[in-house]
Amino acid sequence: MKITIMTLFPEMIENAVNCSILGRARQNGLIEIEAINIRDFANNKHLQVDDYPYGGGAGMLMMADPVCRCYDHIVEHSSVAPQHVLYMSPQGKPWKQQMAEALSSEEHIVLLCGHYEGIDQRALDAIVTEEVSIGDYVLTGGELAALVVADSISRLVPGVLGKAESFQDESFSDGLLEYPHYTRPAVYRDEAVPDVLLSGNHQKIAAYRREMSLINTFNKRPDLLKRAKLTEKEKYFINE
Ligand code: ADE
Repeated sequence: MKITIMTLFPEMIENAVNCSILGRARQNGLIEIEAINIRDFANNKHLQVDDYPYGGGAGMLMMADPVCRCYDHIVEHSSVAPQHVLYMSPQGKPWKQQMAEALSSEEHIVLLCGHYEGIDQRALDAIVTEEVSIGDYVLTGGELAALVVADSISRLVPGVLGKAESFQDESFSDGLLEYPHYTRPAVYRDEAVPDVLLSGNHQKIAAYRREMSLINTFNKRPDLLKRAKLTEKEKYFINE
């Protein structure tokens, strides 16, 4: 899996993806994440990439030409043409775990980061396949959003997570939030780990965790319950 990030601030991306699990996965060759500097494709003496908007208004816009030339370069240098070019924008479709799952089996995807007031619409029309938002707030640029998207996709690539980091039981994997976790000691500041977790009875532990998952989801994200796969008995948690 290769993720190419088109950005004016490649160092923001490079610093982040060199650490922790992504850093290890890159070193092991499981994922390739590259940041390409859009400014390298500026076609003028001062390497200018932004300009005033036609029609007036505050702020500057990224010009179409450096963005399109940067993308042409990426296509020319990729063995498989990228099928997905995601534009990071607060106007985009809300990013979801299912979208990360769908993209994690792609060979090559491109993430486009905007800055200033945005990007000339003609560049977006020419190259973008999906517009993606990581939440209803405005960031100074698309880089943090691109890192969120790249991270959530990469960790689903087989081998990226070690056994201990497995995502079998994690929040969203079955449409529910996770149950609470405990490690040693068995009693900490007078608070004991629930007895059932020390019982060694795997059936009871599974039932307890399922129930805690349901309670957690009911308390924190009741909206998720409507789409989760529930037994008839568990539908008790949907309060309608
Ligand atoms: N760029 C600026 N704000 C953003 C957001 N909320 N999501 C994705 N990209 C962005």
